[in-house]
Amino acid sequence: MNTKNVVAIILAAGKGERMKSSLPKVLHQVCGRPMIGYVLDLTRSLKIDKVVAVVGYKREEVGKFIGKGIKLSVQEKMLGTADAVKKAMPALRGFSGTVLVLYGDTVLLKKQTLEKLLKHHIDSGADVTLLTGKLDKPAGYGRVLRDKYASICGIVEDKDADDFQKEIKEVNTGIVCFKKSSLERTLKEVKPNNRKKEYYLTDTIAILNAKKAIIENIEIADINESLGINSCLELSQANCIMQQRINEALMDKGVRIIDPKTAYINYDASIGQDTVIYPFTVIEKNVKIGKQCSIGPFVRLREDTEIKDNATLGNFLEVSRSKVGYGAFIKHFGYIGDSRLGDRANIGAGTVTANFDGKEKQVSVIEDDAFLGCDTVLVAPVKVGKAAKTGAGSVVTKNKDVPAGCTVVGVPARILKK
Ligand code: UD1
Ligand code: CA
Repeated sequence: MNTKNVVAIILAAGKGERMKSSLPKVLHQVCGRPMIGYVLDLTRSLKIDKVVAVVGYKREEVGKFIGKGIKLSVQEKMLGTADAVKKAMPALRGFSGTVLVLYGDTVLLKKQTLEKLLKHHIDSGADVTLLTGKLDKPAGYGRVLRDKYASICGIVEDKDADDFQKEIKEVNTGIVCFKKSSLERTLKEVKPNNRKKEYYLTDTIAILNAKKAIIENIEIADINESLGINSCLELSQANCIMQQRINEALMDKGVRIIDPKTAYINYDASIGQDTVIYPFTVIEKNVKIGKQCSIGPFVRLREDTEIKDNATLGNFLEVSRSKVGYGAFIKHFGYIGDSRLGDRANIGAGTVTANFDGKEKQVSVIEDDAFLGCDTVLVAPVKVGKAAKTGAGSVVTKNKDVPAGCTVVGVPARILKK
């Protein structure tokens, strides 16, 4: 879809009081990615060139994550969503087209939904087009008000709704498109006449209705998309739904996930075809897994880890910031940190890399075809050479590298066989 004449405003200034957290709400993570990251991804995938993010609470932190290429507007005081949009307007001077307003806490939205919304807005020539949804339990959401002709005439916030209005199941998702000129005119008229004493963006609808403006809406197909994250409970719900999407996308590519309910896989994981993920596996940021691997059950692959094809990992294993070679085996409980394992390395049960010397992380290198006996401890920095072996219970002390082809045993490990 052509979005040349579309700009996006992302509202991300709020603290997120209901999260009860010192971290700005939009930096809370969903499947390993801060919420606002997903919203930025949407604007990128829609190829919207001009994006303005409104920041306020801990704005340096939020701005740092948002990064370059996105204009930041500052809202010093949280006076409401209409005030936040107002703060973005100077950055849009000279532009006359469609303004898409996105909320930094609505991460499950899909590109296709926004495309539909924008298309409907542009084709219908509306002044405003709302993305609405129908919820069985609409508490917390703004309710869509319709007049006797069933045309939208306003939105009432949950806090301000009367008992009758609270029964309305049609909700405002918060996502909305405006004709820039209509938005600009209307923002000036929004007053903080409500229980929160805030300037509500949602009040623009009644104002536009009074002006006989064209108000349109499209209804969201998958109601999960409308979830706005305000609390830790909603964060966990969004996480679940996002995890399901991630896992389904991986299964689509031929990854066999035995129990998707207990596969916690980061949004950016890359996993090859025919790899099997057993239950209770946690895969964190920047992890790459090759083809035909077997991972789990009960495995935690932490940040910056790369597993080559045909490797077998787990159960009860943690691997962190490490590379594991082709066809390697680390089948039973252990810890591998800051390590490089060669192809076909065989790591016995209970092996631990002692990678932290109290000050810094140190590297262990285990070369191709090395064979570590059960309960080996490698005190890093240390190297186990090609096809070298350690006996069960060996403690290989730091810088005492095991030469290629040698066998070491004991504590501290000494050479048994050259
Ligand atoms: C908002 C809508 C509500 C809708 C719901 C959907 C308003 C008044 N209400 O309510 O109709 O059903 O979203 O999820 O718009 N923000 C700022 N500055 C502010 C206030 C908010 O930048 O002064 C940002 C927040 O950081 C957040 C977004 O705007 O990303 C939405 O604010 P939030 O307080 O979460 O609004 P809701 O109460 O959820
Ligand atoms: Ca919200």
